Parts: sequence; structure tokens; C-alpha cells
Amino acid sequence: MVQPAITGSGVFTPPEVITNDELVTAFNAYAAIFNTRHAAAIDSGEIEAKAASSSDFIITASGIEQRHVMNKTGILDPEVMHPHLRARRDDEPGIMAEMALDACDKALTQAGRTGGEVDLVICAASNHERPYPAIAIEIQQLLGAGGFAFDMNVACSSATFGIQAAADMIRSGSARRALVVSPEICSGHLEWRDRDCHFIFGDVCTALLIEAAEDAKGPHFIIRSTRCATQFSNNIRNNNGFLRRTRPYGMEDRRDMLFVQEGRKVFKEVLPMVSAHVLAHLESAGIAADDLRRLWLHQANKAMNDFIGRKVLGRVPERSEQPNILQDYANTSSAGSIIAFSQYSEDLAPGDCGMICSFGAGYSVGSVLLERA
Ligand code: COA
Repeated sequence: MVQPAITGSGVFTPPEVITNDELVTAFNAYAAIFNTRHAAAIDSGEIEAKAASSSDFIITASGIEQRHVMNKTGILDPEVMHPHLRARRDDEPGIMAEMALDACDKALTQAGRTGGEVDLVICAASNHERPYPAIAIEIQQLLGAGGFAFDMNVACSSATFGIQAAADMIRSGSARRALVVSPEICSGHLEWRDRDCHFIFGDVCTALLIEAAEDAKGPHFIIRSTRCATQFSNNIRNNNGFLRRTRPYGMEDRRDMLFVQEGRKVFKEVLPMVSAHVLAHLESAGIAADDLRRLWLHQANKAMNDFIGRKVLGRVPERSEQPNILQDYANTSSAGSIIAFSQYSEDLAPGDCGMICSFGAGYSVGSVLLERA
């Protein structure tokens, strides 16, 4: 049977950065404007005044220090509070495809391959700029790839579910060489005017090249096994589908048309699910937790990752065993664990095992057991 392997990885990091202090200054200016404009309604108790955000809260509650975004000026303008993302003409590359090209080029270069040698592109992301034609098919064309391409969305677990899909197809022979690319423009679906979550997300794009291990031209990671699980929950939700046109409200009034979450519930419900999932995956692979050299976890919250690391390893993990990148990128949805893998994997020695694990809306959990070849 064909043994799939990750032979290249690439990360496109948007050049614009928003620090917590910049973000909080913009939010507090917006809140002050809101409170002034609605002073009468606030005084009469009709609506609640907006409370101020704070950098100290953000760092303590999440571990996030800054985020990269595709457009900073719109987000930081208290009269706008969302990114200015130019709508592209149909005859020019879309914004997701543009980010994807950069990340894919890096992954291909690392693997010593060209776009023309790819025969499967999966665009696995939590938000897509349009329903069709698939972003993946646009990327396929821009790369000069052959074969076929499709989009998929399993929210924060999109990339790991995409890896499983690609690995299975390579194993079965329906594809030879796949790119799993995750352009995550989380700034587009975040409500920057909501104090409870305005600090959570950032933008990025990751790409992985997956091919038969026997085709690898350089250092690579064997995909020993993958495991995916889902369980329905409304605690992370975004209702912005086509039904918004048929609903009797103006979209601007609908808070549920952007990312909404019950953060505390997510924390409580997802942690046991993820820890049990990882332990069961390791057990079925016959690997003791102590033999796992690295955990590349989903990057939503530092306390969450600390908890999972402790539960899986049975002790506090060394920083090098469970690297976090969320302090620099914030939550980048499905791309987070792949950034961690891309930045913290080169030092592993042949035979070392590590696990990529993502989790999020759905709920969904995806894990990928890797071995350095
Ligand atoms: N600045 C200052 N105070 C804030 C604030 C802000 N930006 N946002 C919330 N607060 C306040 C709240 O009003 C609350 O005050 P109260 O105790 O007086 O009611 C207090 O801080 C605690 O808020 P809470 O929302 O309970 O914080 P938390 O400790 O749960 O942290 C998250 C919030 C979102 C960071 C955390 O719940 C989380 O990471 N959850 C999981 C997220 C996740 O994985 N989601 C998946 C997304 S893909």
C-alpha cells in the first residue's frame, strides 16, 4: 500500500500586525462613540452601555499578544470596525487564492516540486469568499496543477480533516500528490465590535504538500494515521449563509451573521473531548504518550493548550514539546496547528513521532500522527 507523507509546508503571514494595545484603543474609541450616540437610550435602561476592553484581560484570558490581518486600517477605524477587503473582479485572482499561492509555493519549494506535479488541491478553510466555483479549482489553475480540486469546511478542523482526505486518496491511488491549503481570513467573520471576542482571531494561510513517501525528495514526515470525530453543538456558530436574504431582519442588526461563541462552554466541553480523542488515537497506534516528541495543537487559547498537554502527557509539557504560536498569530482557525507544525518540526530526528491536533466548531476534532522519516 502507498504510504502518504508530508514533504513540504508553507505559511503565508500577512505583513500587517495589530497589537493588543492598538486593538483595545480602537475598541474603546468605538465604545465611547457608541455610548455618546446612545446616551439617552442607555440612561433610560433601553440598551446597555459598552464596557471597555483591556490588554491585560486579553493576555490573561487567551495568551494572545498580537494578530496578523489582511487589512488593518478598517479594523482599527472606530467608525468602521471591519477589514476593508476589496471585492475582486471575476477575471482576477480572489484574495484567498492569492494567499494560497504564496503558501503553496513555499510548500512546493521545500518539497522540490512544481505546481504542475500536483493532481489534487483541497482548499480546507472555515470561511470561503464565495460558494462556487471552488476556491481550490482557482488555486489549481493558478498553480498549473492537474487532476481535481475541491473546497471543504470543517471550521477549525478543516486542515486536519483535509489531511485525512488527501492521505486516504493517496493511499487508495485516486491522487498522487496533494496540496492541502488553508487560507483563513478570520478577520472577515469576526465581530470586532464585540468585547467578548474582538481579540480572538487573526489571518494567515498554510499549505502542506502530501505525496507518497517513496516519492519524497528530502526530509519528510510519514502520516502514520489520522482520526477525525464530530459531535453537533451550537456553541460556536455563524449563520451567514444564503438564508440571510430570506430572513426578516436587516443583516447589520444580526449578531449571528458573524462568529458567535459561548467561550466558557466551548472550553468546558471541548477539552475532555480532545484529550480523550488524542489518547485514544495514540493507544490505537500503539504509542505511549511519553514516546510522543511533539504536540502541534490548535491555537485558540493558551490555557486550553496547557490543559490538553498536561492531560495527554500526564505532566506539564516542556515548551518545546507543545509549541504555541497563538501569542503572535491569535486564533487562525484551521491553520493554527499547521503553523505550529511548520515552525517547530525541523529539529525532530528520524523515528520521532508527533501529533497535529485541531478542534473547534461542529464540534470537530482531527488528529494526525506523524513520524519523521
Ligand atoms: N476586556 C476586559 N474584560 C472582558 C473582555 C475584554 N475584552 N471580554 C470579557 N471580559 C470580561 C467579561 O465581561 C467577564 O466579566 P464578568 O466576570 O464581570 O462577567 C470576564 O471578563 C470573564 O469573561 P469570560 O468571557 O468568561 O472570559 P474567559 O476567561 O472565558 O475567556 C475566552 C474568554 C474566549 C478567551 C475563552 O472563553 C476561550 O478561549 N474559550 C474557548 C475558545 C475556543 O476555543 N473557541 C473556538 C473558536 S474557533
